[in-house]
Amino acid sequence: MNLPRPRFHLAPARNWMNDPNGLVHTGDRWHAFFQYNPEGNDWGNMSWGHASSPDLLHWDEHPVALHHLPGEQIFSGSVVAGADGALTAFYTSAYDRGIQAQSRATSADGGETWTMDADNPVLDRGSADFRDPKVVRLPGGGWLMCTVEAVERRVVFYASDDLESWRETGSFGPLGPEGVVWECPDLVRLPVEGTTERVWVLLLSTNPVGDDPDPAGSAMHYVVGDLVDGVFHADAATLRPLDHGRDCYAGVTFDSAPGGAAMMLAWMGNWRYAHVVPTSPWRGAMSLPRTLGLRRIDGALHLVQRPVLPPVEAVEPAEALLPVEPHAVLEAAWNPAATGAMRLRLGGEGDAAVEIVHDPAARTLSVARTGAGADAVHPDFAGIRLAPLVEPGTGALTVVLDGPLLEVFADDGATVLSHLVTLGAGPVTVSASATTGVAPTVRVGTVGSDAAAA
Ligand code: FRU
Repeated sequence: MNLPRPRFHLAPARNWMNDPNGLVHTGDRWHAFFQYNPEGNDWGNMSWGHASSPDLLHWDEHPVALHHLPGEQIFSGSVVAGADGALTAFYTSAYDRGIQAQSRATSADGGETWTMDADNPVLDRGSADFRDPKVVRLPGGGWLMCTVEAVERRVVFYASDDLESWRETGSFGPLGPEGVVWECPDLVRLPVEGTTERVWVLLLSTNPVGDDPDPAGSAMHYVVGDLVDGVFHADAATLRPLDHGRDCYAGVTFDSAPGGAAMMLAWMGNWRYAHVVPTSPWRGAMSLPRTLGLRRIDGALHLVQRPVLPPVEAVEPAEALLPVEPHAVLEAAWNPAATGAMRLRLGGEGDAAVEIVHDPAARTLSVARTGAGADAVHPDFAGIRLAPLVEPGTGALTVVLDGPLLEVFADDGATVLSHLVTLGAGPVTVSASATTGVAPTVRVGTVGSDAAAA
């Protein structure tokens, strides 16, 4: 089975895509660069692809921005916009001789064409695992580059006043589980809901390595803390899951987003099985864009993600087993005082199904992807994921389905699960029930094909 193309998520027309790189808002458009193989739909020949969008939902693909060179692949990085509209990119030069170092390129035409610096790399520690430079604008002026020493599980920081010379300010880590590499850091200053407070949060992705790696595979995390003299310090020494699904990785935020919003895109993939996801001639897609914020719940700060949702064509209450196109936004609502566990089931081709259970008594949200199609992808693909609910009394759930991409937002954005799913290209049946009380109301809005990426 070949999975259908998404309609309102960024996915390349053909070939392989992984991490978002160089997300930047400039000239009234959102630009996304991304890890891309110009020569096939497997990982390799890593280069930066390029797409842009007026609204984060309709994407136009542009020519490859940074092409791999003899002896050098172009790994992940970031872009910042200057006041004059000039763009500066920082990326990892992954040399065939086994060294990873940070390099620079500039664009004077809005990201269409790029000139790599003649004296690249600009930062070389002689390390084999030094990568993923994310350059962040500091509120007081100047920039901070967050990079990783991936195997050491450290984020290494460099400060600059001119984007040319860099001074190491310190590092953060290691902490959390061993047996993983740290990848794709980002540092964001997030507003706390209902206050004027802003708090620094580190975003981080981890991928299991070694002889017996965790079958759950790669995942994103966040750490709440503070930035002091160019170094991040954590409030508590734990990595907290940013997304409880299997397919949310390498997420980073846009530079220069209007209003200073922390707008994140993540790759909807998992290194455990990304290479065998049955799509062609493309492989890889981004999550919905999500605005990040913080909410204080029971005294602790929780990351909150609010998706940019597509306009829907028809909104109708779902009867039991209503068949809908597999490109839809579902809003489930129920009376939390009267309803026990709430179950939402999406049935697809053959025995393919996704079952979402919101259980306030157990304080859990679970999402299961099952059926022969899921089993066929990879031995570790099918199964159930469980997330702790932080606000179990919220009688609402938003479920976004776009072909093979499923994103579930609970707790008003405080609990999120992102999954690739194998429901197929045909109509999906939606049914909802509750263990006690009245079954939830499910409003289904389908997203028309005019939302297709050009
Ligand atoms: C994360 C990652 C990065 C690296 C890139 C290579 O998914 O492994 O650390 O720069 O992908 O494609």
